Amino acid sequence: MTASEPLLHVRDLRVDVGDRNILKSVSLAVPAGALLVLMGANGSGKSTLGLTLAGHPRYRVVGGSARLAGQDLLALSPEARARAGLFVSFQAPPEIPGVKNNLFMRTALNAVREARGEPPLDAFDFLGDARAAAARLGLPEAMLARPVNDGFSGGERKRNELLQLALLRPRLAVLDEVDSGLDVDGVRAVVQLVQGLRAQGTAFLVVSHYQQLIEALAPDAVLRLDQGCIAETGSLALAGDIARTGFVRAAQVLEA
Ligand SMILES: Nc1ncnc2c1ncn2[C@@H]1O[C@H](COP(=O)(O)OP(=O)(O)OP(=O)(O)O)[C@@H](O)[C@H]1O
Ligand SMILES: [Mg+2]
Repeated sequence: MTASEPLLHVRDLRVDVGDRNILKSVSLAVPAGALLVLMGANGSGKSTLGLTLAGHPRYRVVGGSARLAGQDLLALSPEARARAGLFVSFQAPPEIPGVKNNLFMRTALNAVREARGEPPLDAFDFLGDARAAAARLGLPEAMLARPVNDGFSGGERKRNELLQLALLRPRLAVLDEVDSGLDVDGVRAVVQLVQGLRAQGTAFLVVSHYQQLIEALAPDAVLRLDQGCIAETGSLALAGDIARTGFVRAAQVLEA
């Protein structure tokens, strides 16, 4: 990555899902340490973008490029993308029956630590860190010993995603509606975690429909995805305009 190159640089990205083209031409740049909010109507392709960056096999890249810290992200396996410092949360975190949450997280964390040149954490040290992070996120400690998301409530799953984020400390975190289903304390925990990680240099692309969260995060920019493209880029005021006028009118205003 050169000094002038953004941490994440997506150019003219075109993605098909099934037999449909969802992203037509998405271009965006996330500078190192920045926080961008991505908005867009239901079905506009926000999750598609996140899961494409993560390397989910359902999303077929048919054009364009995505570079993370100067590396060709699209050429890497999903696990290599994570080792390169990318974290993408699930809008609907899946269950992984039979795989214990703490072992899953320690394995992921030690793979990322190895890539960063850091020594692996043994079970004892990991558990100390995981317990402390879980307490900050209001996730009962018993959740660490259960299979990943197995029987977790909606809000507990979201907190479990946040726990992974807190432990992995990525270079870039894409958070997909991580606030949905969270209670007020959970939303406060999101803001605190994001602020704490930003202070350590993590950059964010945050997908959210929730105006209060967006305001609390004080984004550097707000993007609106529409018709498979970034239709508008603005400041926090853009989120306010969307909250007032809705996505349909926001699109009409731009076309007028
Ligand atoms: N397998 C598939 N075949 C066809 N279309 C699909 C498939 N999977 C997803 N889509 C469509 O892709 C579009 C984009 O979905 P996506 O989940 O990215 O939207 P989103 O912006 O995240 O919406 P939301 O705000 O509701 O989370 C939707 O219209 C969805 O129905
Ligand atoms: Mg979505």
